[in-house]
Amino acid sequence: MRKKILAANWKMNLLRDEAIQLINDFNKEVELSSNEIEVVVFSPSLYISEISQLTDFKIGAQNFYFEKNGAFTGELSIPQVKSCGASQLLIGHSERRQIFGESDDLLKRKVDAAVESNTPFIFCCGEALETRDAERHIEFVVNQLHASLFHLDEKQILLGAIAYEPIWAIGTGRTASTEQAEEMHAAIRESLSYVYSPSIANQISILYGGSCNAKNATELFACPNVDGGLIGGASLQSETFNQIAKALI
Ligand code: PGA
Repeated sequence: MRKKILAANWKMNLLRDEAIQLINDFNKEVELSSNEIEVVVFSPSLYISEISQLTDFKIGAQNFYFEKNGAFTGELSIPQVKSCGASQLLIGHSERRQIFGESDDLLKRKVDAAVESNTPFIFCCGEALETRDAERHIEFVVNQLHASLFHLDEKQILLGAIAYEPIWAIGTGRTASTEQAEEMHAAIRESLSYVYSPSIANQISILYGGSCNAKNATELFACPNVDGGLIGGASLQSETFNQIAKALI
């Protein structure tokens, strides 16, 4: 059966000492046995090397470029982040899509690079408020998956997890209702089943992200098709993150 995954997305937060402090706090406070839940911390890449040595939690890179090396000033490759201790990749976060203009095509190349390097990844999707108001949210999200992810074959897609993150819920304090989350997660699972097979669909974890916190995590995680969370703001405090982890167990 599919894994439960709890991912922390620290985004562009924390100075070095603060990141070290937070990972040490996670070590003390986040009470999990690793076979119950997979915890992944997407730290700023600068700190991956140091914090991956301080914890047993998996450390991931929030961003990377799809080429392996070369004249790409300012970029980091998958082999580079892996050589520093990253074992997971985040692809297609709406902040990368919206602020940094990452296109479906670029994301497809990133997905291919992750697969080529055999690195597990979380692929993010999610609609803007106008799209939801126009009741085109399911079509929109399924199109995002077709555009950048569903070209993979059955073996390759199993390397990935999917995070549904409605843009209107990210960092806004406005969470999707359990009905909204479950409706979308079920639709994503149905498309996986249609494109691949019911068995593949049942093996892929689908996480919810967007203002998930200690108060709403229990009901979100109770949805049958919600297999975990991608947590931004609420992952910056170990106590809150631990409460969310407990909600997932
Ligand atoms: P949030 O961010 O929990 O702060 O809404 C989630 C994310 O962007 O991954």
